[in-house]
Amino acid sequence: MPAHSNEALYHEALRYIPGGTSRLHYHFAPYPIYARSASGCRLVDHDGVERLDFLNNMTALIHGHADPAIVAAISDQLAAGTVWSEPGAAEVALARAMVERVGSVEQIRFANSGTEAVMLAVKMARAFTGRNTIAKFEGAYHGYYDYVQVSFGGTPANWGPEEAPASVPTTAGLPPSILDQVAVIQYNDPGQVDRLVARRGNDLAALIVDPLSVRMGAPRPAPGFLEYLTEVTCRHGIVLIYDEVISFRVGFGGAQSRYGGVPDLTTFGKVIGGGLPVGAVGGRREIMSLLDPDRVDTKVLSGGTFSANPLTMVAGKAALDRYDAAAVERLNRLGDRLRTAGNAAFRAAGVTGQITGDGSLFRILLTDEPVTNYRSSVRRAAPTAAMLALHANLLREGIIVGKTGLGCLSTPMTEAEVDRFTTALARALASS
Ligand SMILES: Cc1ncc(COP(=O)(O)O)c(C=O)c1O
Repeated sequence: MPAHSNEALYHEALRYIPGGTSRLHYHFAPYPIYARSASGCRLVDHDGVERLDFLNNMTALIHGHADPAIVAAISDQLAAGTVWSEPGAAEVALARAMVERVGSVEQIRFANSGTEAVMLAVKMARAFTGRNTIAKFEGAYHGYYDYVQVSFGGTPANWGPEEAPASVPTTAGLPPSILDQVAVIQYNDPGQVDRLVARRGNDLAALIVDPLSVRMGAPRPAPGFLEYLTEVTCRHGIVLIYDEVISFRVGFGGAQSRYGGVPDLTTFGKVIGGGLPVGAVGGRREIMSLLDPDRVDTKVLSGGTFSANPLTMVAGKAALDRYDAAAVERLNRLGDRLRTAGNAAFRAAGVTGQITGDGSLFRILLTDEPVTNYRSSVRRAAPTAAMLALHANLLREGIIVGKTGLGCLSTPMTEAEVDRFTTALARALASS
């Protein structure tokens, strides 16, 4: 076995890192591919195999790999220092770009990951309302913060009745008291929202929603659902948090500009860091002012040695500058092309499955049930092993997607790459 082949690296990694990986989502049998280099929408592994990358660091790279404008921005910044204690102009520029872009965002604060952003937004909601409980939708992933590691991987054995989902720990190590403080409801079900606020409305600090949760199977919001959440949370004094860490890319002003509703706070990550670690919380000035260090009364403390570091800030600004309305529109149309042809490939192969999602985000699911919430994406789905086999076949066909079927597009892609994807999918389905 060559010294730096995928297999050799994996066996070496096993000696030093639990399970050989720091990233659970990219762990699969017999061993993951190890990236050696990447450019645009192509990635070469340590066995020398080149593939089209439809995962893009879990959807974070809107312009693919080593985008020249982002590389230039980072290189210029490198020469001026990687990180300073002092704030810099790039932080102000990225903040301004986000405020100008996202309608509900009057001010923004940066962090280092989407998880941190969610953690901060929840804390701000508690401070603002003086309440403790939060509510989330079943199956939605919001990072690995204790209060949101609840009910994103439930199964029929533990998820409780559909009309009253149980709060289920999704990791070991959660104090049981957390489960009492996290209410779980079904996406796209206004009746459940009503029952929740009737029961616990006065205790609820926040309702957190990912408008296009790929973890949930990527159901689109039903018409009027997000507006309804906006109205109900406003009536009951609950802070509405949109988690746009992943869904931001589907609209120029984020998912909220595509689907509607007006959140009090929005969390961001991934794309807005231009390929470097990032998170952010933005929203109404009245709530954001809780972070103002000059404030004398209730104040929420956030920190982070590397928060708003200039490398991330310049990379994020360079990424956003070229992800303008026309680029968003073009990529979204390519996404439609991929879903249409991909769904046709499933039908032609006679395999039960579909491609869900919207804009440039997609998810391959091995169920034909229309997906409106988490349960509809999993209850009739083929066993996990079938998805893993399809994932392995796609890798063999030269296509990288996530092992759960997560995928996305990047701006270097054209119709040609999308058509290569659907041809590869047809071949992968034929050999499944
Ligand atoms: C909707 C959503 N929220 C939060 C997170 C956590 O972000 P990070 O991985 O940067 O901590 C993710 C990550 O995939 C996400 O998809």
